[in-house]
Amino acid sequence: MSDAGRDRIREDFDRIACAGGGDSERNDRFHDQLLATFPQHVTAALDVGCGTGTLTRRLAERAGRALGIDFSPGMIRLARERSIGLANLEFREADLLEIELPPESFDVIASVATLHHVPLAPALERLGGWLEPGGTLAVLDLMSTDTLADHLWGVVSGLRRLAGGRRVGNPVGELGAAWREHGVHDRFSSLHQVREAARVLPGAEVTRLPEWRYLLAWRKPSVPVLPFRA
Ligand SMILES: C[S@@+](CC[C@H](N)C(=O)[O-])C[C@H]1O[C@@H](n2cnc3c(N)ncnc32)[C@H](O)[C@@H]1O
Repeated sequence: MSDAGRDRIREDFDRIACAGGGDSERNDRFHDQLLATFPQHVTAALDVGCGTGTLTRRLAERAGRALGIDFSPGMIRLARERSIGLANLEFREADLLEIELPPESFDVIASVATLHHVPLAPALERLGGWLEPGGTLAVLDLMSTDTLADHLWGVVSGLRRLAGGRRVGNPVGELGAAWREHGVHDRFSSLHQVREAARVLPGAEVTRLPEWRYLLAWRKPSVPVLPFRA
């Protein structure tokens, strides 16, 4: 991804934040499933691409301290405004590919709907490096539809949600326009590509979720895995 590409993405999210948006009900519906991969009591949690901080605040409910990072100044402003009075929360404006964080300093790391904006394998390696041994990483993101199974699974799960009366409204006005124009450039990995990239985290599990999403979960081994030598 070129610097210009990343600048455009940052500007897109600043525009969305200025229009008062940033929360995505479509992704927030999966937060419970993602949080279920984490222990109940957490020392230090990191939310990568935190947007307005909805998930960071939920992580802070069970963590000693929680940090949200996002490279959009507009998103970080909204995240801070919506977290006033919460003492164990911090938000930092930073690019996930550039920020320097101490290695192995979080026992939980989450990222939702963000890693499709960056090269996946190098990003996973960075996140894995910040995780302490025995800690858990969970990534929830959108995937492309490559196979007939992807199409069918996406359509059936969408219809099941509608049949269950769970309709998600589309944003309108300037906010709707900002999301639509951002979406034109969005590119997602296929499930196969996600599984290939996840090989940088040996033992990571990638699960297909409803509505064109996947969940990647990885528990970092407590002792380093040494390459086998005969
Ligand atoms: C679709 S939003 C998701 C926000 C939040 N995780 C949620 O689920 O509501 C993607 C977020 O990732 C951020 N982002 C994209 N690329 C990033 C990067 N390289 N470094 C930091 N943040 C990034 C954007 O600014 C945006 O807030």
